[in-house]
Amino acid sequence: MVQPCQSADLSAWATVRETPWQGTEARDARAALEALDLFGAGPFPVLDQLRRYAPVHRDAATGLWLVSRYADVREILMDPHTYLPDNAQNAVCRLSVPALRILAASGFARPPALANNGGPTHAGLRSLVADFFTSMQVSAAVPVIESTASRLLESVAEEVRLRAKSDLSTAYARPLPCLVMMRLLGVTGVPLQTLLTWSEAALELFYGKPAPKRQHLLAEHTAAFFRWLTKLTAAQDSEGLPAALQAHFLPRGAALSPATAVAVCFFVFIAAQATTGQLICTVLSSAAADPQVWSKAGDEEGFAEAWVDETLRREPPVTTWRRVARRDVLLSDVPVPTGAELLLMLMGTGSDPAVFTEPQRRCPRRPKARLHLSFGAGPHRCPGAALARTEATAALRMASRELGEVQLLNHRPDEMTRLLSFRAPAHVPIGRPS
Ligand code: HEM
Repeated sequence: MVQPCQSADLSAWATVRETPWQGTEARDARAALEALDLFGAGPFPVLDQLRRYAPVHRDAATGLWLVSRYADVREILMDPHTYLPDNAQNAVCRLSVPALRILAASGFARPPALANNGGPTHAGLRSLVADFFTSMQVSAAVPVIESTASRLLESVAEEVRLRAKSDLSTAYARPLPCLVMMRLLGVTGVPLQTLLTWSEAALELFYGKPAPKRQHLLAEHTAAFFRWLTKLTAAQDSEGLPAALQAHFLPRGAALSPATAVAVCFFVFIAAQATTGQLICTVLSSAAADPQVWSKAGDEEGFAEAWVDETLRREPPVTTWRRVARRDVLLSDVPVPTGAELLLMLMGTGSDPAVFTEPQRRCPRRPKARLHLSFGAGPHRCPGAALARTEATAALRMASRELGEVQLLNHRPDEMTRLLSFRAPAHVPIGRPS
């Protein structure tokens, strides 16, 4: 049986202002919100209804306060004093006792490090990580990205030749950013597939609602990942990010604790590849669904990059992110009490008509395309944004050029990675056009 989602103590919270549900459309919206599944696959109509009728809506199943208007979400992200990031990485659903035991046996802990750190150590740790992803580092990584993409695409082309189809998700989109990250961060001594499995397991365990039996398996993978990271960050001969962390000191000169070093690596090793792999899946799947888009991506200067930006705006891989209200606040005229856990609907903000005209249409090169909040904003804004964009652009452009004409096969929009904060097609099956 699926464990119930954790629900905060709602009794202490202020009364939510009644929304004026008038007219048939509003009543339909209310019914849709009452049946809302935050782990659902196709959230567009609901995101639009939320923004319009209930811009600050408390979800009964999770106790989370859903904030969906661009202006509110941006205000929250830009104000780290009022809205704390402490809950950003908490497990969404209650973990079973056996799963918790497995994690505890590995020493698993996530002290404040990056995304969940609102304290004084955040800026130093962030700049240490960001140093690995400066625009110079990203430009220098382009040949690595292209040669890795080219190698993977050779195997995809061979598979299409032999079997008439291939899955771009498993054969290309997910391995590419992982291999690039391993090069940039100095990650060695672990097979690619193991790292992918560990990362995906951790995301599902903490952002999904897995049944207890599955939690057991996911916790075992997460614990193995954690044990390996603990060894890596302590090893004298480590390289890249783990070595930089060993030499890092906190603001008052104290050495970084081993637990924080592992927590930084745990977050970055997942962030630097899983989300980009998901973005590449969505980019490739939407482009392969339209032959014109697919061919322009290879032929027309700047088109692939513009397609990536539109995908980030409309269908980003990180769909939601969390914050905690530090005091009573008013958002879109709704009183939100101290301690309320906010779920920022990043994905819906990219389709807010107050900011983007005709938001439902993908218009490559639209004005202000990069105003979207898909990488967050403010002091926690994603430091890997340039790398993610560069990788996704290269992945699309090179797939179009090197595979030539292909089409999306058996498109199943229901086959999605469905987690509270992450969303992407699970498969991107392609073949030659018939
Ligand atoms: C398409 C791919 C990606 C998306 C959509 C994405 C999105 C995000 C979002 C929404 C946040 C939270 C921002 C906030 O709290 O305001 C974040 C934080 C972060 N991301 Fe990314 N990310 C992606 C790729 C990457 C990559 C490639 C890296 C590393 C190279 C990375 C490293 C980080 C780190 C370290 C943080 C925490 C920053 C902090 O707390 O200061 N991400 N990302």
